[in-house]
Amino acid sequence: MSETLERVPIKVRRHDSWPDIPAHVPMELVHELDYLDENSRTDPFSVTENIYNELPPVFFSPQFNPVLYKGVWVVTRYEDIREVYQNDALYSTEGAAGFQRLVGETFQMLPLAADPPDHGKYRLLLNPWFSPKAINVLEPQIKGVINELIDGFIDKGECDVAFDYGRIYPVKVFLNLMGFPFDKFEDFLEWEYAILHSRGDAKKMTWGTQGALTYLRSFIEEVRKSPNDKLGSAIVHGQIDGRPATEDEIIGTIFFLWVGGLDTVAATTSLMFRRLAQDPSLQQRLRENPELVPEAIEEFMRMQPLVNSSRKVKADHEIHGVKIKKGDHVMCYNTAGNFDPNEFENPREFRLDRQANRHFTLAGGPHRCLGSHLARRELRLALSEFLRRVPPFRVKEGADMRAYPGLIAAPRLPIVWTPA
Ligand code: HEM
Repeated sequence: MSETLERVPIKVRRHDSWPDIPAHVPMELVHELDYLDENSRTDPFSVTENIYNELPPVFFSPQFNPVLYKGVWVVTRYEDIREVYQNDALYSTEGAAGFQRLVGETFQMLPLAADPPDHGKYRLLLNPWFSPKAINVLEPQIKGVINELIDGFIDKGECDVAFDYGRIYPVKVFLNLMGFPFDKFEDFLEWEYAILHSRGDAKKMTWGTQGALTYLRSFIEEVRKSPNDKLGSAIVHGQIDGRPATEDEIIGTIFFLWVGGLDTVAATTSLMFRRLAQDPSLQQRLRENPELVPEAIEEFMRMQPLVNSSRKVKADHEIHGVKIKKGDHVMCYNTAGNFDPNEFENPREFRLDRQANRHFTLAGGPHRCLGSHLARRELRLALSEFLRRVPPFRVKEGADMRAYPGLIAAPRLPIVWTPA
C-alpha cells in the first residue's frame, strides 16, 4: 500500500554565528532545525524526508527549550537513537520534562527523571497498573466509553473525529484509572493544551502548569484523607523501596502521569483518522481484515512519532567523531529515526506486513513508555469499534485538517459518511 508523498525540503537554517553556542561545538555542525510546521500535507512528517541527505548524522541545534537547555545535539540515525535510549550509564534523564520548573517547583517528574537503579523502584509501584493483565480488566470500560461516543454521532452521518472522539475517550479512561472527577475534564484539557501545544510559549506553559499543579495538590490532600481503589490513591499511599512515598515523589509521579496520559493517545488518534479518511483503500482493507488492526496500529505509531526525547550526557565521549561533553543534551530525533531506510524498508510507505516494526514512538531502553499497553489497547479499540460500526468515511469537503506541531496533532477533523 503506498501513498503520494509531498516531498518538502527540510527546513534547516545554517548560521555562521549564533549566541550561546558552547565553545566545543564546531560552527559547521550548527543547524537550526525548525522541523515540523503547521501543515495540511497527507503525511505531516514528510518534512524530514531529506534529513539523511542534507544533514550530518549528529548536529547541534540551537533550539530553545525554556526549561531544559539552550541548544541540543540531535541524533537522527536508528542505531544512534537506540544507543542513546539504552545506554543509561552515559545518558541520563535528569531534569527531563521539567515543566514544573517554570513555576519555581523543584520536584522531579517520575519515573522519567530518575536513572536506574532508582528508576526501577518507581516503576515497581506503577507497573502492575499498566500490565497487559490490568489492561484486560479495563477493556470493557474502554469499549463502553468508545461506543457511547459513537452512539452520539453515528446517525448524523458526520462528526469531528478528532474533537468529538479522539480528544475524549482516552481522557475519560485516564480519569477513571486515576480516580480524578469527571467534571475536571475541560479544565484538564485546557491546561494540558497550554503545556504541550503552545510551541514553547513560556507564558501559556506557566499558566497550564500552575493550574494543573494547584488542582493536583488539592486532589492529593483529598485522597490522603479518603483512600480508594484507584491509581491516584495507590500513589498517594504508595511505598517506594519499603518506605512511604515523599511529597515530592507523589506530586512528581501524579503530575507526570497527568502530562503523559492525557493527550498522547488523543493526538495519535487524530492523525490515524486523518490518514484513514484520506485513504479509502486502507480503510477497506482493515474493514475486510479486522485481524490486521494491531499491525495497522504499529504502523500508525511508527509513522506518527509524537515525541522526541532528550537525555543529559554523563561523560565526555564522541558520536561519529563529534566531541560531546558532559552536561550537553542529546535529542533522539524519532521523527527521522522511525524512517531510517537502514531499519525500515520503504520507510515512507504505510505497510501492514512489516515483519519487525521496532519504532521509537514509545521510546526505548529503561524509560520505554509505561502506558504502552494501555495506549495500544485504546488505539486498537478506537479503530476496530469505529470501523465495525461506522460506514466508510471521508474528510468533509472544505474541512481544515491542518496538523499542528508541539505534540503534533490535528485538533479538528470533520468527516462524513452515508448513514446506514
Ligand atoms: C500513543 C500514546 C503515547 C505515546 C506516543 C507515548 C510516548 C512516550 C515516550 C516517547 C516516552 C519516553 C519519554 C522519554 O524517554 O523521554 C514515554 C514514557 C512514559 N509514558 Fe508514554 N506515551 C503514550 C501513552 C502513555 C499513556 C496512556 C500513559 C499513562 C497513562 C503514559 C505514561 C508514560 C510514563 C509514566 C512514562 C515514563 C516511563 C519511565 O520513565 O519509565 N504514556 N511515553
